[in-house]
Amino acid sequence: MKDYARINVKWWNKVTPIHLHSELYNLTGFKKGKTTLQSIELEEVGSVQGKNLLHLMCHFGMDTLSWARKGAIVTGVDMSDESISLAKKLSKEIKVPATFICSDIYQLPDVLDKKFDIVFTSYGVLCWLSNIKKWAKIINHFLKDKGVFYIVELHPFTNILSYDFKIYYKYFLKGPYIDDSDGTYTDWDAKIKGLTYEWSYTLSDVINVLIDQGFKIEYVHEFPFTIYDQFPGFMEQNEKGQFVLKDKKIQIPLLFSLKATK
Ligand SMILES: C[S@@+](CC[C@H](N)C(=O)[O-])C[C@H]1O[C@@H](n2cnc3c(N)ncnc32)[C@H](O)[C@@H]1O
Repeated sequence: MKDYARINVKWWNKVTPIHLHSELYNLTGFKKGKTTLQSIELEEVGSVQGKNLLHLMCHFGMDTLSWARKGAIVTGVDMSDESISLAKKLSKEIKVPATFICSDIYQLPDVLDKKFDIVFTSYGVLCWLSNIKKWAKIINHFLKDKGVFYIVELHPFTNILSYDFKIYYKYFLKGPYIDDSDGTYTDWDAKIKGLTYEWSYTLSDVINVLIDQGFKIEYVHEFPFTIYDQFPGFMEQNEKGQFVLKDKKIQIPLLFSLKATK
């Protein structure tokens, strides 16, 4: 079997410095105190004051640190060493305490011995999971009894569409598949050669692996807007800064959120 994680880490390490200085991540605004969290998760997760929060696949930590600014005691985990090193630097620079761990989530129980009130993960995580059943087990492992798991994510329905908004892929595609497109989601013209292994899951896959772990699904919400220019040329920003389809005759789900309790 290929060492998918090692190949993917290589790509994440290369794109992290590009993401850091991108308009999408808005580092300057963040350093000035602006939250990088979106209104969906802010409203749906609610108060995190004094709660222990585990952020899975935290990239370089701005969302993790945004939760910390809201009073959570945070631990961020990512397998990209470049991302975690930047997250630690940021935490020091803005003087917001956080624990950052460089680990593949599947190996996390070997290096982290703690239970959490909230496990959080967001925007662009499902496609990196080589094993969604094991992912749900990991979430269960790290949650205290009555703890909350929350995800807000690109809607799996959009997996069937190509960048130029054509129906192109199978909804029921099983990974791993190779993504060798150049550039990255913050800058498609960036001189980055693509090579990643990714997976595809349906909405019911996500719900069912959590049910199998004994979670109570509190809700699943679907949204007709997203947080970035997912289909360049076909999207525009509304008055709230959300990306919506230009063609108002079309409405498809672009994001979903899910809350589950243990
Ligand atoms: C799109 S980013 C996360 C998005 C996050 N909401 C953000 O924008 O900051 C995906 C992250 O998942 C990490 N990742 C991918 N597979 C992983 C794994 N198996 N274990 C831990 N981290 C992983 C990557 O290194 C990357 O930083």
